[in-house]
Amino acid sequence: MKRILVISTSPRARGNSETLADAFAAGAKEAGHKVKKISLRGRKIAFCTGCQSCHKLGHCVLEDDANAIVAEMAKSDVIVWATPIYYYAVSGQMKTMIDRANSLYETDNAMRETYLIASAADDDPRAVDGAVKTLEGWVACHEKVKLKGVLRGVGLDARGAAKNAPRLLEKARQMGLKA
Ligand SMILES: Cc1cc2nc3c(=O)[nH]c(=O)nc-3n(C[C@H](O)[C@H](O)[C@H](O)COP(=O)(O)O)c2cc1C
Repeated sequence: MKRILVISTSPRARGNSETLADAFAAGAKEAGHKVKKISLRGRKIAFCTGCQSCHKLGHCVLEDDANAIVAEMAKSDVIVWATPIYYYAVSGQMKTMIDRANSLYETDNAMRETYLIASAADDDPRAVDGAVKTLEGWVACHEKVKLKGVLRGVGLDARGAAKNAPRLLEKARQMGLKA
């Protein structure tokens, strides 16, 4: 049994990346894992100020919603990042959360695996490459974490499009089942 944390970073309620992440979560629960989902929507998460105090304190000095999420990350074996593709990159919300989790850098924590679930309007699977690159950067800085899977939810634009994409939903569920 793995502790899996799904971080849904889209500001859009009932959006495509979150719908795919929910399918992943359903598969992972079917497989017997403990799954928790946190949405960044409506959370107060400021930009990292680069002060680096987190390395001394073990937590960020900014008092907003990020620290509680970072604490959840630290005790999770698997982090699933769900993001819409914005300008061929991860959402600003996802990047801000990555930066605000800087206190986890070079610490002893549970994180061992990560997944990327992305949705994009573009039909070309390469639309997700920029987001993969960003997550690879995070993985490179957490040497015990491996990038286990990428779901390229391409061709999804309007809200609800993912609900009508059975092939992608099944792919996400299978990814969760095998997590
Ligand atoms: C600010 C913004 C930038 C976007 N940039 C891209 C892009 O570069 N490439 C693309 O294919 N889709 C782009 N899109 C479309 C979204 O990626 C797409 O609608 C996605 O399915 C939204 O996911 P969500 O419902 O989880 O928020 C953009 C949408 C927004 C709002």
